[in-house]
Amino acid sequence: DLYNFRFIRPDTKVYGIIGKPVGHSKSPLLFNAAFKSVGLNAVYVHFLVDDVKKFFDTYSTIDWAGCSCTIPHKEAALRCMNEIDPIAKKIGAINNIVRRPDGTLTAFNTDYIGAISAIEDGLRGLNGTHPAVGSPLAGKLFVVLGAGGAGKSLAYGAAQKGARVVVANRTFERAKELADKVGGQAMTLAEVDNFHPEEGMVLANTTSVGMKPKIDEAPISKQSLKHYCLVFDAIYTPKETRLLREARETGAVIVYGTEMLIRQGFEQYKNFTGLPAPEDLFRQLMEKHA
Ligand code: ATR
Repeated sequence: DLYNFRFIRPDTKVYGIIGKPVGHSKSPLLFNAAFKSVGLNAVYVHFLVDDVKKFFDTYSTIDWAGCSCTIPHKEAALRCMNEIDPIAKKIGAINNIVRRPDGTLTAFNTDYIGAISAIEDGLRGLNGTHPAVGSPLAGKLFVVLGAGGAGKSLAYGAAQKGARVVVANRTFERAKELADKVGGQAMTLAEVDNFHPEEGMVLANTTSVGMKPKIDEAPISKQSLKHYCLVFDAIYTPKETRLLREARETGAVIVYGTEMLIRQGFEQYKNFTGLPAPEDLFRQLMEKHA
């Protein structure tokens, strides 16, 4: 009973995930288990949605409480919102929508929050390399590989924390466009191997290089990894990419893509319920159903 149907009543709060395809999403499993664990009168379902505008119009009179938003609706849904988190607006994509009782829709992008918080916690584990107060990303040289949706999330998120952002992309024009928007520097992916103006930089891969099935590829050379104190990879299949393995062997702190995935879920739960997420439960379920 994935949806705990036995417990649904007229006043049960309804959440869901909108997407296409959506049936494979594990979010209902995680959220329903989480609701149940704290006795919340709420359900989280799959919404197979073709046209997001139609979805929001159709459901405007129904008392639903919020939804997650996945492929291919992260950009189109943005245009249906009443309020948008400022960074999500700049990124141009949302994945989390809260509906107030008066029907107002407020949207967030929890992907960038998940990734950035995981990276910040990784840096906090490195004593003495960051200021005692504020974000450990402040003042750091932060190299983002890739300039697609995930690249934007990381670049805007890091810039907001005061990092000095460098965007490196296979197609230079896309790097330049994003770098200009975040007040950063642009280069091609090929140039990154020779870019090490200082030590202790942070690296975030958002390209698909190293993703299953091409697991023997890495976006930058192992040799150049010694200039980085922390390396994050947005890829989570495989869990440890060649990039992360080589970074680990080189002595950098590594942050897995799965960590971004799970933390973005914590943020969604917080936004939906106003409560902290049952983090251990989420982690256990993710591991069990990986
Ligand atoms: P996402 O939303 O996951 O970021 P995307 O918008 O399709 O996905 O972006 C994919 C990123 O991976 C882009 O930065 C792309 O570089 P280009 O802008 O040059 O296309 C990068 N990418 C994909 N395949 C690549 C490859 N074989 N080598 C280097 N970069 C690659």
